[in-house]
Amino acid sequence: MAAAGTNSLSGINIKSSQNRLLIKNGQVVNYDGMEEADVYIEDGIIKQVGRNLIIPGGTRTIDATRKLVMPGGIDPHTHFELEMMGAKVADDFYKGTRAAVAGGTTTILDFVLPEKGQSLMEAYNNWREKADNKVCCDYGLHVGVTWCSPTVKKEMQQLVAEHGVNSFKVFMAYKDTWMLNDYELCQVFETCAELKALPQVHAENGDIIARNTEKLLAAGITTPEGHELSRDEEVEAEAVNRACVIANQMNAPLYIVHMMSKSAVDALRLARQKQKQPVFGETLAATVGTDGTHYKNACFRHAAAHVLSPPLRPDPYTPEAIIEALTIDDLQLIASDNCTFHEKDKERGKGDFSKIPNGVNGVEDRMAILWQKAVNTGMMDPCRFVAVTSANAARIFNLWPAKGRVAVGSDADVVVWDPQLERTISAATHHHALNFNIFEGTRVVGSPQYVIVNGRVCLDDGELRVAEGQGRFLPTLANAPYVYGEEAPGTPQHATVHYASDSPRQSPHRVTNGTPTELHLVNKQLDGLSVSGASTPTGRKMREPGQRNLQNSTFSISKELEGLDTKTSVRVRNPPGGKSSGLW
Ligand code: URP
Ligand code: ZN
Ligand code: ZN
Repeated sequence: MAAAGTNSLSGINIKSSQNRLLIKNGQVVNYDGMEEADVYIEDGIIKQVGRNLIIPGGTRTIDATRKLVMPGGIDPHTHFELEMMGAKVADDFYKGTRAAVAGGTTTILDFVLPEKGQSLMEAYNNWREKADNKVCCDYGLHVGVTWCSPTVKKEMQQLVAEHGVNSFKVFMAYKDTWMLNDYELCQVFETCAELKALPQVHAENGDIIARNTEKLLAAGITTPEGHELSRDEEVEAEAVNRACVIANQMNAPLYIVHMMSKSAVDALRLARQKQKQPVFGETLAATVGTDGTHYKNACFRHAAAHVLSPPLRPDPYTPEAIIEALTIDDLQLIASDNCTFHEKDKERGKGDFSKIPNGVNGVEDRMAILWQKAVNTGMMDPCRFVAVTSANAARIFNLWPAKGRVAVGSDADVVVWDPQLERTISAATHHHALNFNIFEGTRVVGSPQYVIVNGRVCLDDGELRVAEGQGRFLPTLANAPYVYGEEAPGTPQHATVHYASDSPRQSPHRVTNGTPTELHLVNKQLDGLSVSGASTPTGRKMREPGQRNLQNSTFSISKELEGLDTKTSVRVRNPPGGKSSGLW
């Protein structure tokens, strides 16, 4: 995983001081704690973390005083160069990953989405060809399963065994293109379990959407407002519940992509209490940073630019509820689902909302939006911010601890985050290939000042310096310990942080003191750190990976033991998938 950061000259490897970097005086933030520490990077790898480091001469130094030094973001859900609904995504792998890096994201996971009947291997090879020479940061691939046959099953096996794919997405919506029926979902989930891969699901009821769309259009409702009306919260929540039931029956873990509503999160919460295998929920920057009232905008361009599926919700409490869910671990990650379409492509749906290509921006602004809406408001502490923007994705997709952690031996994907940097998000200044931004006009306090990708300073005091093709393909291996092993949520050994579901306000990631106003609050958190560091804004101590946190004042051993009695001890981890049905 680690990059060979040496220069080759006439076959002789020479080390250059350009490969050495010291980030000094910052607060290192990991998902499980914060400490004052310097970070020394050499040849694309973090070599030392601590104080009074002994550093070779000629090393470049970045001063991170009053800055946070965090793992580079991992966006687990992007679509670059995708063709869907008759249009092509505006951001290609170069512009898309460049925008990612500008916003502090140093790894993206994109989707290969074969057409029905198309070979998965062929689609995968096409995607590698598109991406390999363009990406500015490391990337991995999920593969969609849009049809079922014995060859599809064989190709899933091949992708896992030989091509570094450990996750497969299925669709319960997009009838007539990507949607599978429940029997097919059973087959795919079962196969994933056999392969120790992770099934991902787009959870919306495609049949209800199709029927509602017919009725709305017949009634003369053709504008973007019809998009949300055709697929309200219940349509999403029903599918979340059904996907969870199917996964439970097939004894498979599950990852639900782009969860957009309170009802869907409620369904997930209930399911997570009874599933035999872990279930993970992902939400989007769009859900946190904007809302469904934009569908009522009289300007088609504006309203259509917000169309994605599942849709943004008009309920004004949704963004806060979703942040709450992220904070208390009802949701585990935030992605972008970056899938940008030019205005002329969105216009395909003028006169018929169901033809508006689905997708919005987000890969660049995901981290700043969450920081602004969750950390600056006092709902979430920086450790949880790291968990949901990078560490959890690294663990779920088996990139951990090379990715998602600032620690010795990890890849040097690092963000120096300035919690005082103020800016206003705008299409005029973003790096996407289109001239619309769904977060237009949002003022954020907190953004990356430096972004280091595999040891290279790619955002240098605000100046973007990426090279096309500098990123690498990341093979993701099956059987992730966080999904199938002893680290999986729900196994007794996991139990690093127990959240009492009846008292979310006690979450170790909720900021409980201070006035919840932006920067003051974050600064207060930073000021609270001891000189020797090693404590978190919520008073926790730094831990090594896997070490249980017994220091946290809100952490209750007795509660955890109760939890083991009532919940985890009844989990029977059958051999995933059981016997192959041979039905494919
Ligand atoms: O509207 C969306 N989400 N577009 C991208 C395709 C998908 O369903 O993820
Ligand atoms: Zn989807
Ligand atoms: Zn998507």
